[in-house]
Amino acid sequence: MTNPIVTEDLEKVYPGGTRAVAGVSIEVHPGEIFGFLGPNGAGKSTTVGMLTTLLKPSGGRAFVDGLDLRTETDRIRRRIGLVFQESTADDQLTGRENLELAAAIYDVPPAEARTRMARLLEEMSLTQVQDRLVKTYSGGMRRRLELAAGVIHTPRVLFLDEPTLGLDPQGRAGIGQVVRKMRDDFGVTVFLTTHYLDEADLLCDRIAIIDHGQIKVLGTPAELKDKIGGDVLTVTPQQAGVDLEPILRAVPGVLSVQRHESAYRIKTPQGESITPTIVEACFAAHAPLASVSLKRPSLDEVFLEFTGRAYREEEGPSATDMALRMNQFRGRKR
Ligand SMILES: Nc1ncnc2c1ncn2[C@@H]1O[C@H](COP(=O)(O)OP(=O)(O)OP(=O)(O)O)[C@@H](O)[C@H]1O
Ligand SMILES: [Mg+2]
Repeated sequence: MTNPIVTEDLEKVYPGGTRAVAGVSIEVHPGEIFGFLGPNGAGKSTTVGMLTTLLKPSGGRAFVDGLDLRTETDRIRRRIGLVFQESTADDQLTGRENLELAAAIYDVPPAEARTRMARLLEEMSLTQVQDRLVKTYSGGMRRRLELAAGVIHTPRVLFLDEPTLGLDPQGRAGIGQVVRKMRDDFGVTVFLTTHYLDEADLLCDRIAIIDHGQIKVLGTPAELKDKIGGDVLTVTPQQAGVDLEPILRAVPGVLSVQRHESAYRIKTPQGESITPTIVEACFAAHAPLASVSLKRPSLDEVFLEFTGRAYREEEGPSATDMALRMNQFRGRKR
């Protein structure tokens, strides 16, 4: 099966000379939820802009659903869905009318549109409010409606640029569930940028961290955390007074051992796989353990390690002209 997104040395230099994307090569797998993270100005939106045909690359190549970005922009546009951080729903229309409009823009046959709308409204928990004007919707309802509009034409690839920005944790969790369900039900491949690391951790199958237009690291959330080279395993022996330190140090894969009162803090690259060995080694040395706890490093530490910057959630994305671009995109559809 073709990978739905493939980029080879993709590059974007803006007219002012900013090299916003500086040679990005990635492959996104079918049905994957792929997270694209990075500090402000890293090049996330520019990459999304190019992959959705709204911005012309300055160099390199990219393929979306197997189609060449340079020559097949119209076909690509029909096969992708797009949801931006900025609200694109029309306030003066009802939820249902917004979906009808989206279906018309994408030339979805009316009978099929009706079936799909009913199903999407249900899935997004919007059936009850479908005839209300969108201006009365909450932020979460609005974003769910925009997601529904973004997939009304059954796209093969769905691009979400900061889909949950500004929503409260409950709203964010709801969007996450809906995105996962769309992937599970329709097999859509999802490419998303987000400023919420915990969200990316839960939702994404793989994550790339981009900074200064270049990919710094790419892998599953667990792989990225493994790269930090340090899970922390804390063990407490049943009997006080035994010295576990030499036993623990002898276990292959243990990087360091620190004693804190009756507990020992063990740093290891592979906490999960080493835990049984440690438990057995202590047992064999007649020093059975009373408790074991494993703490994995978080994506915050990964972010710090690979971008040299502490991650600050409140920064949010810089203002973009994406809503404008979205309208251009819609206008060019027909
Ligand atoms: N239209 C434009 N013209 C010139 N420079 C631009 C333009 N749009 C973005 N840039 C610059 O390109 C770089 C990458 O911007 P981009 O919007 O892709 O970053 P981002 O990772 O999406 O950031 P954020 O997290 O703030 O949304 C930044 O230095 C930005 O100032
Ligand atoms: Mg952005």
